[in-house]
Amino acid sequence: MGEAKPCQAMWAFQLPSSLQKHLNRHRAAGNSIGFVPTMGALHEGHLSLVRQSNAEAGFTVCSIFVNPTQFNDAGDLSKYPRTEGEDLFQLERAHCDAVFLPSEEEVYPSGLDSGPVFEFGPLDKAMEGEFRPGHFKGVAQVVHRLLQIVSPDAIYMGQKDFQQVAIVREMIRQAGLKVRLVMCPTIREKDGLAMSSRNVRLLEGQRLRAGLIYRQLEMIRENAGHEPLADLEKRALQSLSSEPGFRPEYVRIVDGKTLRSVGDYSESDFIVACVATWVGEVRLIDNVVIKHSGEG
Ligand code: PAF
Repeated sequence: MGEAKPCQAMWAFQLPSSLQKHLNRHRAAGNSIGFVPTMGALHEGHLSLVRQSNAEAGFTVCSIFVNPTQFNDAGDLSKYPRTEGEDLFQLERAHCDAVFLPSEEEVYPSGLDSGPVFEFGPLDKAMEGEFRPGHFKGVAQVVHRLLQIVSPDAIYMGQKDFQQVAIVREMIRQAGLKVRLVMCPTIREKDGLAMSSRNVRLLEGQRLRAGLIYRQLEMIRENAGHEPLADLEKRALQSLSSEPGFRPEYVRIVDGKTLRSVGDYSESDFIVACVATWVGEVRLIDNVVIKHSGEG
């Protein structure tokens, strides 16, 4: 796909220059641009970001690019689901205006190590940073590059990846980019499991038990005001550990801005409980806001 091709009502681009030409025409016509970055294997969570962008922006672009630099595990990269035909179909049904499907050369013309280096302090040290070293460096690198190409007015990201949103917010601040970051609510299955591209890799029995992750987050939210937070972390961790096939990496209750651990409920007005656990061969993350008062 060298040049732009209309994909029925939705445009599909591989080349940054073709996408940019198209977007410039829309900007000139007075449309604002909303951008939804993805790695494909789209589900209702991604489509909700597209809908939010459609509601706020005049033109919505979604990118699909499985970014190699954010995978600290080659096996995880090779197993990442790739469902491009179905993704295009879903995007079109969600009334996305354009999809950007760049190759690795287009995203990283100067090689995988290129791009500015950001310093995230404590934001990329804990939780995902601890268990997936280098992951956020890759996320910041690719989102920075995609923002350079698309130059949107707003970028839409899901709360499920709460730490990722904090990293992208900080990257935007450090790079001085003029883009509004919109964090959209996590979309859940009926049993509470957060929608994720990785869910399709769960075996049937694992999928049936995976709702436990959200139930433990809810348990923390319900008890946070009247039980020590460390006890709740421990209880959730024990409950997840005792479920067959579950191997939790962390349960952390953190400040929603700094991502530092919070010891006492009164310590912060913005508190988030975060979990990462393996369920069989699949690593899942989730979080819920357990307190958000004041300016937060
Ligand atoms: O959340 C994701 O799907 C990816 O981390 C993102 C933001 C598209 C960057 O590759």
